[in-house]
Amino acid sequence: MAEKSDSRTQKILADLDKLAQKLQSDIATIKTEAEQEKLRILYTGRKSKLTEILRGIKSLNDEGKKQVGSKANVLAQQMETQLDDALTKLVNQKLGNIAQTERIDITLPGKKTELGHLHPVTSMLQFAEDIFMKMGFEVVYPYEIDNDYNNFQAVNIPENHPARDAWDTFWLEDGGIAITHTSSMQNRVLLSHKPPIRVIVPGRCFRNEATDARHEHTFFQIEGIYVDKGVTMGDMLGTLGTFFSEFFGKKVDVKFTPDFFPFVEPGGMISLTCFICDGKGCKVCKHTGWLEILGCGMIHPNVLKMGGIDPETYSGFAWGFGLERLIMLKYGIEDIRNFYSGNLKFIRQF
Ligand code: FA5
Repeated sequence: MAEKSDSRTQKILADLDKLAQKLQSDIATIKTEAEQEKLRILYTGRKSKLTEILRGIKSLNDEGKKQVGSKANVLAQQMETQLDDALTKLVNQKLGNIAQTERIDITLPGKKTELGHLHPVTSMLQFAEDIFMKMGFEVVYPYEIDNDYNNFQAVNIPENHPARDAWDTFWLEDGGIAITHTSSMQNRVLLSHKPPIRVIVPGRCFRNEATDARHEHTFFQIEGIYVDKGVTMGDMLGTLGTFFSEFFGKKVDVKFTPDFFPFVEPGGMISLTCFICDGKGCKVCKHTGWLEILGCGMIHPNVLKMGGIDPETYSGFAWGFGLERLIMLKYGIEDIRNFYSGNLKFIRQF
């Protein structure tokens, strides 16, 4: 019985050797990846030749099982490696063929990659934010679509107030508003901060009005809100004067003219010397020598109250300036419509 088992063991071991040889000769004939896959299934798949041979292992004695088992393990691994190597060889051959037919001429000049840069309004916005942050201001961004309450009522412009006509408004069908000014954030800022408050609100505004050299339907404003005890107009002019000197890199002449905004009292308008004509008068400044930059004033007590701040204890100032107008002055740009015209000749100058 032991002898019979031994001879069966020898037979299976011999079959395994034959299988290994057969695989080698089969591998030598394959030419495609599909043929390699067929061999892989044939030799290592679930119903492989190896599995078939190993069925006979049940009738062997323990020693026989051990011998056949360890040889079969080694063989299985060898077969996998050989099949993998064969596949790698096929793939490399294919790549080699591509390299032969599609040669790369490394002496040809490369394609030039065009490097973009920030839009001038974006980079100047960041520049302005940095100046105000150095002065201790926090930056809060507005909602571009807001509601009647924040854009108008909370800044002391009740429904049907004639002052609404000053802001040509884009209304949404659901009653929403494409914000006409960054003052739309005044109420939220006052409610969410405790004095001393120093916040700027840079944001895109929209007005349903005809465009010209100084007016766009879409433009940026930077709102400023400053509230503390004993704040005066002098503080406001000092703050804005410091900002302008930093922004233009030189001291600039500022003209303050009284003006009316329902959310400030007293209110005013600040204009800067028109750098385009050096104050001599041109079409951009409508031949006045000055360019209107911002509206400002001491925050109206009603607005402070609606923002949860006691006007008996605190006072504050606010302003809202047009960023594009400042950039126009800084770089001598004669028409605001250049910014969003999509004209690369203009944009590439910055
Ligand atoms: C306002 O929008 C007020 N919210 C400003 C303000 C804030 C006053 C806080 C008092 C206190 P006004 O409509 O004047 O005001 O606009 C302010 C600035 O935005 C203008 O001086 C101008 O620089 C800029 N601006 C206004 N309309 C346009 C436009 N259509 N195109 C480009 N810039 C504009």
